[in-house]
Amino acid sequence: MRYEFDRMIDRYQTASEKWDGAEKIFGEQNLLPMWVADMDFRSPEPVIEAMKQRVEHGVFGYNLRPDSYYEAIKDWMAVRHNWTIQQDWICYSPGVMPAISLIISYFSEPGDSVLIEPPVYPPFSQVVTRHGRKLVTNPLQYDNGRYQINFADLKRKLDNGVKIMLLCSPHNPVGRVWTRQELTQLGEMCLERNVLVVADEIHADLVYQGSSHTPFSSISEDFAQQSIVCTAPTKTFNLAGIQTANIIIPNPKLREKFKFAIENYFLQFSNTYGMIATERAYRDGAEWLDQCLKYVEQNLRFLTAYVEKQIPEIKVVHPEGTYLAWLDCRELGMDAKTLEQFMLKQANVALVAGDTFGHEGKGFMRMNLATPRVLLDEGLQRIGRAIKSYRESKESF
Ligand SMILES: Cc1ncc(COP(=O)(O)O)c(C=O)c1O
Repeated sequence: MRYEFDRMIDRYQTASEKWDGAEKIFGEQNLLPMWVADMDFRSPEPVIEAMKQRVEHGVFGYNLRPDSYYEAIKDWMAVRHNWTIQQDWICYSPGVMPAISLIISYFSEPGDSVLIEPPVYPPFSQVVTRHGRKLVTNPLQYDNGRYQINFADLKRKLDNGVKIMLLCSPHNPVGRVWTRQELTQLGEMCLERNVLVVADEIHADLVYQGSSHTPFSSISEDFAQQSIVCTAPTKTFNLAGIQTANIIIPNPKLREKFKFAIENYFLQFSNTYGMIATERAYRDGAEWLDQCLKYVEQNLRFLTAYVEKQIPEIKVVHPEGTYLAWLDCRELGMDAKTLEQFMLKQANVALVAGDTFGHEGKGFMRMNLATPRVLLDEGLQRIGRAIKSYRESKESF
């Protein structure tokens, strides 16, 4: 089946955070929302059909995840990620962030150090500090337009005593798909120091041609025993609103502890739609995903060409994965607040301000590319026009 990613779907009046929430959150009208990380596309048709059929049944009692649910996840990991996992490694969670929050709470003590690599998805720092853990940062290095892990700094930080490392793989917002070699180096450093690696791999399926995702725990048996991999079909198939995730934990001791935590909060029951959509998407969503990735990659090329020609002050940090573009706007010479206000008030686009991901993101903005090309074009034209006026106003001085 051919999917129509060019199709415009009105998302207003659907309680969408990105669309209905933009005006309230940013205090501006007529914004084009390019911020929250969800897609403006319909999910795969088989997933929608499966949910429709379930609605028609009309009885919505408690659920028991069937073997076929776990089989679908196992098959997906084997086929898409070359990772053989066992059914009992798969632990349910009502989301990746709830799982990470429970892991911080149950696998570390107040005052323990938890390491993150900013600029990174903002809840990573929040979840550490909210639990009273010490936030340790190993900022990514930005050299020649490419982000890298600063291994010398990582060693220093780990040597000071770190309990958990939160790894974002692939990395939101900079779009790096960490190579097996990078992950191995990082993992060995953590293993030597007994650091638990929690790999948030929610963006694992969203990888462009030329890059390949390596599940952290798949690298070696030793890595598997000292890591937890957080997965979900929600970013991949645009199902974020159904809130569901699968946390893969090969080590039985870690797994029992995680399940204990989930059960302590009575979170072990799947939401009907989360359960159905997960199985159907992993079974029948590959065709949609492959087309979606092609479309988003074309959007990325469109963005890059537009910006190179029309807005040379902005540099696109080339993503290897995720449908997010990280825009280096530092040449505009605005401080972080001014840049954010400029995009909102002059360009009328809602992007995510770079410093939301840590002060290392100052001068950058994150743009969502999972949208019909006409909307991307509209957003770019708005930014292009605003920057043209800004340029001209500076030149006239
Ligand atoms: C890296 C990362 N982790 C987790 C999430 C959220 O996951 P969930 O909705 O399952 O908590 C996001 C959403 O943008 C994300 O980018």
